[in-house]
Amino acid sequence: MKKFTLNDMPAQQGKIAIVTGANNGIGYETALGLANKGAKVIMACRNPKKAENAISRIKEELPKADLIFIPLDLSSLKSVRNFADTFKKKYQKLDILVNNAGIMIPPFSKTEDGFESQMGVNYFAHFLLTGLLMNELNASAQARVVALSSVVHKMGKISFSNLNAEKRYSKVGAYSQSKLACMMFAYELDRRLKKANSSVISVVAHPGVSATSLLQYIPKIVTTILLPLTSPIMNTPKQAAMPSLMAALDTSVKGGDFFGPTGFGDMSGEPAKVASKPHSHNQDIAKKLWETSEKLLSFKFGV
Ligand SMILES: NC(=O)c1ccc[n+]([C@@H]2O[C@H](COP(=O)([O-])OP(=O)(O)OC[C@H]3O[C@@H](n4cnc5c(N)ncnc54)[C@H](OP(=O)(O)O)[C@@H]3O)[C@@H](O)[C@H]2O)c1
Repeated sequence: MKKFTLNDMPAQQGKIAIVTGANNGIGYETALGLANKGAKVIMACRNPKKAENAISRIKEELPKADLIFIPLDLSSLKSVRNFADTFKKKYQKLDILVNNAGIMIPPFSKTEDGFESQMGVNYFAHFLLTGLLMNELNASAQARVVALSSVVHKMGKISFSNLNAEKRYSKVGAYSQSKLACMMFAYELDRRLKKANSSVISVVAHPGVSATSLLQYIPKIVTTILLPLTSPIMNTPKQAAMPSLMAALDTSVKGGDFFGPTGFGDMSGEPAKVASKPHSHNQDIAKKLWETSEKLLSFKFGV
């Protein structure tokens, strides 16, 4: 496959993209990349000050960038619904949805609606958001939904009896479960879209490893010692956004594809189409996860 560069990607004038968690890290770089190609980018962020600050930073680099802030707090399903309502009032179609926002290994807490926070923010809220925007995605000539997963999907397990840490909370277990859930949802969504003859495609990206604020809950002692040693084999946030941008923009992308860096340990390097672990393609578990999600969210996902 030809080396991916943003320059080679088609112009996105007239396209509307949503990036969740666009104020920071990989989401910021993804929004910047999409704005650079001419897309109108909806910055779906929970903190207005951080969002406005990110918009100013992007505009310093790209004065003509078309950026709109719409508040979205993924730890509240009410906020997800308000976001979707606000978007629908202003726009009739959606071309690119990047479900980027995430949290990693925080102390145990629950979202407003009682979900374990990592499953709630990373997975359940994005499931609902995508479902609420399906009509607008279908109204685009060829829309894409990009899910953010991680190398930790490899060790992830969907535990239906402990989906929201009902029995025990393992920080790493809940994170890897949430990132596997995002991936299995993306694959299941693509299967359902194909069955429905929809022109929308659903794809997955993982950024490798990058020292963003996602690492805030890793003990300081660990990051202070390890980061200087590992940073040469890690992606910068800009590099880490490339798999998402490839998934969102490359014309050769097909539904169900998975993109990630191809360097040492899948942690950094050039983005390309890669393979996820076989358990991520388990269709019985994906179907059960989908149906469980609909039930827990009291939401029928119309594909
Ligand atoms: N960095 C890595 O090494 C790595 C590796 C694998 C996968 N990923 C994935 O890449 C994605 C982006 O991560 P990152 O490294 O860029 O992390 P980051 O710099 O911490 O950015 C995370 C973004 O998500 C937002 N967010 C968190 N909770 C939210 C909520 N309740 N509602 C709305 N937005 C919320 C954050 O907003 P605030 O600024 O307001 O907190 C921030 O904008 C995540 O899905 C992560 O799992 C990252």
